[in-house]
Amino acid sequence: MNRLLDYRTDFYSLGVTFYELLVGQLPFVANDVLELVHCHIALEPPPPDKVNAQIPSVVSGIIMKLMAKNAEERYQSAWGILADLSQCLHQLENKGGIEAFQLGASDIYDKFQIPQKLYGRSAQVETLLAAFERISTGSSLVVDASANRKPQSEMMLVASYSGIGKSALVQEIYKLITSKRGYFITGKFDQFGRNIPYSAVVNVFAGLVRQLLTEPEACLLWWREKIQAALGANSQVICDVIPDLELIIGKQPPVCYDHCQNSFKKYRDFG
Ligand SMILES: Nc1ncnc2c1ncn2[C@@H]1O[C@H](COP(=O)(O)OP(=O)(O)OP(=O)(O)O)[C@@H](O)[C@H]1O
Ligand SMILES: [Mg+2]
Repeated sequence: MNRLLDYRTDFYSLGVTFYELLVGQLPFVANDVLELVHCHIALEPPPPDKVNAQIPSVVSGIIMKLMAKNAEERYQSAWGILADLSQCLHQLENKGGIEAFQLGASDIYDKFQIPQKLYGRSAQVETLLAAFERISTGSSLVVDASANRKPQSEMMLVASYSGIGKSALVQEIYKLITSKRGYFITGKFDQFGRNIPYSAVVNVFAGLVRQLLTEPEACLLWWREKIQAALGANSQVICDVIPDLELIIGKQPPVCYDHCQNSFKKYRDFG
């Protein structure tokens, strides 16, 4: 979600633990990992008191506050959580029930936290998302020479000074792409890795392969066919630079060097 992880992710996990403890099931049930990631990023779980009316609404509120999507909207300190839970216990012991009270009233914040938000980039985010929308919905179909309609690819280039926020901008669309079940992959040509040919391209696709490996078997089969059709006799060349690929497409025959001997040798000599 274009955010650094900090201690508040544990509060989210605690919320999930309480949820399962009280409701008897996890907040999200999904068939595969990507769907589960999508649920955690984009969907609100049904509040515990709506699933089971016996759960006091205050307790349900505490759980939902722990599981807020944005870390700023969760509790900010363990003391704050303890204070609200103690208040619930106190009321339960003395009154036999829990009346509504303001959550997080004792949640004192001892750190200066700048919200991890991207400022003033909504137009640029829109442009990137519009491109993703066109490609993923197939609204930018092109007609090739034999009158077949094929989905078009698009490339966007983001250029500016170092540190201006290019990576931050591009990563901002990660959440939306994941919620539409797209794959988001990144790589960087590092100034200290200039001697490694195609380093960023290799990083990018190694990342994709790792994501694909989390997919269910049926999906992997589909990818296996698609990748093998695209790589053909050159599969081993790619497996040499992305070893994990072998886990998807299996062991590959050695490359026939004849037709590409010179360029391949040059490539190997490069390391
Ligand atoms: N519009 C913005 N709102 C909030 N923070 C921003 C914004 N733009 C950039 N930043 C912050 O500035 C820092 C540098 O941004 P980033 O790493 O995206 O730059 P970059 O252009 O990718 O740099 P490089 O060319 O070195 O890769 C990051 O911590 C990022 O979160
Ligand atoms: Mg960058």
